[in-house]
Amino acid sequence: MASNRFGNIFTITTWGESHGKAIGVVIDGCPAGLPLEEADINAALALRSPGLNPYTSPRKEADRAEIYSGVFEGATTGTPISIVIFNKDADSSKYEPIKDLLRPGHANYTYLEKYGRFDYRGGGRSSGRETACRVAAGAVARKLLKEEGIEVAAFLSQVGSARMADPIGEEFASLRQSVYANPVFCPDPHTAEAMMKLIEAAKDRGDSLGGVVTFLAGPMPTGLGDPVYEKLEANLAKAMMSLPATKGFEIGSGFQSVEMTAFQHNDQFIVQEGRVQTATNYAGGTLGGISTGMPLIGRVAFKPTSSIMKEQKTLSTEGKEAKFALPEGSRHDPCVAIRAVPVVEAMLALVLADAVLMNRCVRVKR
Ligand SMILES: Cc1cc2nc3c(=O)[nH]c(=O)nc-3n(C[C@H](O)[C@H](O)[C@H](O)COP(=O)(O)O)c2cc1C
Repeated sequence: MASNRFGNIFTITTWGESHGKAIGVVIDGCPAGLPLEEADINAALALRSPGLNPYTSPRKEADRAEIYSGVFEGATTGTPISIVIFNKDADSSKYEPIKDLLRPGHANYTYLEKYGRFDYRGGGRSSGRETACRVAAGAVARKLLKEEGIEVAAFLSQVGSARMADPIGEEFASLRQSVYANPVFCPDPHTAEAMMKLIEAAKDRGDSLGGVVTFLAGPMPTGLGDPVYEKLEANLAKAMMSLPATKGFEIGSGFQSVEMTAFQHNDQFIVQEGRVQTATNYAGGTLGGISTGMPLIGRVAFKPTSSIMKEQKTLSTEGKEAKFALPEGSRHDPCVAIRAVPVVEAMLALVLADAVLMNRCVRVKR
């Protein structure tokens, strides 16, 4: 299986499966001299952990990262950073009864068609567990971005019909604090309340809901991203859509832009606080694939969690009609978009860290 690597200069290669001994990530291209400790990574992993609150899966999973290389005396050395997370909650016996069934909404059908084999004990490489490696690497990327003065954030902005408007002029530190202080990672308490009600009702029905995660970065420098295949928004789209359960990506006004005229949509240039800015930010912080210096803003849509408690029709791997029901005591995460929030933030950090490093070789210094 190819394609476990992401990025150009700041690259990550992730490995491992949900029910294997461990999962991990190798980060290559991280500059030397970045202060880094396991605690930095574990703080980020704690946010992605299931069992965090009643709105995510009840599985208790104390992820702890161990750094095996690339760090000496509390700082990166410029050599590959190898991070390992041992799997502690790998009870695979409950998968036995469903091992010969195609799982609705899951990847085992396509895996079997493609590879002819599938590790039925979990989602294999398509498992949400793989995203822990991205979060670990994202914590390193986030530290690198801080050195550049760039902050990243993500939050749950919509679940079903409960949605909040984009925050305007919010300080990143306080925004991020209010996101992670809330059980559904939504910074607006009223929307969060409505989301919780919807999620609880779906959980009681044994069903699940989708959600939208909004991401933001700022203050942004101008010039990140290349004009053609490495457009900043193209790399963000790939980063986000490479996450499991994603169904949509938007930058700036996104799909709403089709309902606007150019006169409404064009962001008009102004001078504010002594620098060029735009009066609006429908572009979402890029023009021609290159950052404008305005905040980067986009959204990622996550489908309703596939594993639900309701019985569903399916086929066996032999093609016979069958009923699919999750085994007793299975995990049921009624809205996977909640746990996706720190993962989206990590992917944003990875794309930007790579873009920052790529930008160091674009023109002659004058
Ligand atoms: C952080 C995260 C955690 C996930 N956890 C679950 C889960 O507990 N149950 C589930 O059915 N799907 C979960 N998923 C989604 C599935 O992995 C995904 O829907 C499945 O592999 C099929 O892939 P696709 O939806 O991209 O087509 C998770 C996704 C993410 C991003």
